[in-house]
Amino acid sequence: MKGVVLISGSGSNLQSIIDNANDINLDIEAVISNKEAAYGLERAKKANITTHTLDHKQFSSREAFDQNLSQLIDQYNPGVIILAGFMRILTEEFTQKYTGKMLNIHPSLLPKFQGLNTHQRAIDAKETEHGVTIHFVTAELDGGPIIAQSQIKVLEDDSAESLAKRVLIEEHKLFPKVIHWFTQNQLKLNDNKVTLDGKLM
Ligand code: GAR
Repeated sequence: MKGVVLISGSGSNLQSIIDNANDINLDIEAVISNKEAAYGLERAKKANITTHTLDHKQFSSREAFDQNLSQLIDQYNPGVIILAGFMRILTEEFTQKYTGKMLNIHPSLLPKFQGLNTHQRAIDAKETEHGVTIHFVTAELDGGPIIAQSQIKVLEDDSAESLAKRVLIEEHKLFPKVIHWFTQNQLKLNDNKVTLDGKLM
């Protein structure tokens, strides 16, 4: 299946997707970043993947940015759009256009800790468990139907950094696995409900 990956930063999740692309039946057609300095762009270039930077600061509105992003994505006619650390709030028009074919990774056990600084917030809330969620993207920020989660224990001496590191290890395992379900047509979104092989998740 053809896919386009959107990033904003380091791209460690992108790297795990690139490393597993053959095994998960994914053809990464392009990597798009809203930040020119995103290290993930270097990772993509090293893997001979086409890259684009679409700097959101060059657009007068969120709508204008999303429309341009959508045009760029559509050039590749992807079966799946993968948000791998893409740190943008998306317009309803954009999310609706790709309902059921856009996946996001978020570093918390949603619905807990939507938004930013999830690791510090988990520590501050004295959570004993933390983790990562993969979900279909809808108009609600970090609120779309959940596909899969991976949990880790929060240790007493954890800092936001140490927690982030251990969550990332889980992210790098879980995202390729979920993408594979999708590329094999095992994973579906219907009426806001997620099914895997026809069974409700
Ligand atoms: C990851 O931890 C990902 O879960 C998070 O950004 C990081 C990107 O790291 N995404 C979000 O917070 C989305 N709301 P990476 O660039 O090294 O993959």
